[in-house]
Amino acid sequence: MHNSDQNILAQPLALPCGTVIPNRFAKAPTSEHLAERSGDPGTDLATLYRIWSEGGSGLIITGNVMVERRKFEAPRNPVFDAKTNPAAVQSYAAAAKSAGNKAIVQISHPGRQQQRGRGKSVAPSAIRLDAPWPLFGTPRSLTGAEIADLIGRFAETARIAVENGFDGVELHAAHGYLINQFLSPIVNQRSDEWGGSFSGRAKFLLEVLAAVREAIGPERIIAAKLNSADFQRGGFSNEDSIATAQLLEAAGLDLLEVSGGTYEDPQMIVGLQRRQSTIDREAYFLEFAERLRGETKLPLMVSGGFRSSYAMRAAVASGSTYLLGLARPLTLMPDLPNRVLAGESLRASDAEPRSKIKFVDAFLGSSWHNQQYARMASHKQPATDRGPFWTLAAGAAKLQRDATLYGRG
Ligand SMILES: Cc1cc2nc3c(=O)[nH]c(=O)nc-3n(C[C@H](O)[C@H](O)[C@H](O)COP(=O)(O)O)c2cc1C
Repeated sequence: MHNSDQNILAQPLALPCGTVIPNRFAKAPTSEHLAERSGDPGTDLATLYRIWSEGGSGLIITGNVMVERRKFEAPRNPVFDAKTNPAAVQSYAAAAKSAGNKAIVQISHPGRQQQRGRGKSVAPSAIRLDAPWPLFGTPRSLTGAEIADLIGRFAETARIAVENGFDGVELHAAHGYLINQFLSPIVNQRSDEWGGSFSGRAKFLLEVLAAVREAIGPERIIAAKLNSADFQRGGFSNEDSIATAQLLEAAGLDLLEVSGGTYEDPQMIVGLQRRQSTIDREAYFLEFAERLRGETKLPLMVSGGFRSSYAMRAAVASGSTYLLGLARPLTLMPDLPNRVLAGESLRASDAEPRSKIKFVDAFLGSSWHNQQYARMASHKQPATDRGPFWTLAAGAAKLQRDATLYGRG
């Protein structure tokens, strides 16, 4: 390892909007289910994000914040809209930026990945999720007027985020959420201007980007999280992803976070079946990012799989990615960035229990991390001794408890 490789992670990165990220570590978005019942981010989220900020990430991306009050991905998601208390957003932003890093809000709508019991879900077309999850119903197809309204909601949420201290937003266009549903030839079966051809499917994303830019101005960060593919026959493909990235670059995006998979095939958490050469490099989507590098000049952030300081340095030194997106490693090691920046060689452990069944593991992993986040938010040490049954039972019980917070409708 050359000295320059050692220091490369400490190099600042200037994004097209002019904002400078002080180093190459980014905390990837993590839905923590810790907002107040009102949807305001409260002291739990502020405490947790202060810990992450002090851990040294140059960029912090919040877990997904909903753009519509009654449309949650999970109970206790935060919502930023006209009813949100600005002081709560200010405290959240101040905590997330307390160590001098930049922080942006991931803005999202679940579409058909909305949990049951909160009214009918909506999607580009009335196509139900094809996964063994009992949580999701058949969505209703959105009308043109509703689509226009939703674009305005993304812009309003972004405006609230930056007016109250965040440095910008990330559009959640990955993991099967609403924007990804518009991009998907399987979920989007519309024959109007919002579907049909590739450009029809990309229109919702591009209109959201234009409305958000109009709302927050040229100097704030707009990032997008995009799937490299949905991993379904006839679905959103590598080629679609490259074409989408090129459209986003032309439309003035600042940063592209590369991930992959949906609730139907949760590759973002479980990782791809990979060749040994890819396993050695740890990150699931690095090969695709390298392909993307030849097709767009967008600054890239690759999320998923990074565990060792060696692989992190190598990925940035080789130019495969500009930023390292880390989610699970920052649960037990929130100060991983500072430690690596100080020269330590380390490997974050995969501490969550596993069952070897892909769909069970996706829920198990999320539940385990959510349980640790709740402990961190209460200044407790992580509990690493919890096995799969305990974790699943506690996760299901929390979902049940939180779902009753809001009533039905
Ligand atoms: C508990 C948990 C919650 C997550 N929530 C989100 C989210 O709100 N938005 C998102 O884009 N990705 C979310 N992810 C995915 C991560 O951002 C990341 O893509 C994935 O965990 C792979 O990175 P890792 O191997 O560093 O964990 C979540 C992951 C976990 C474990």
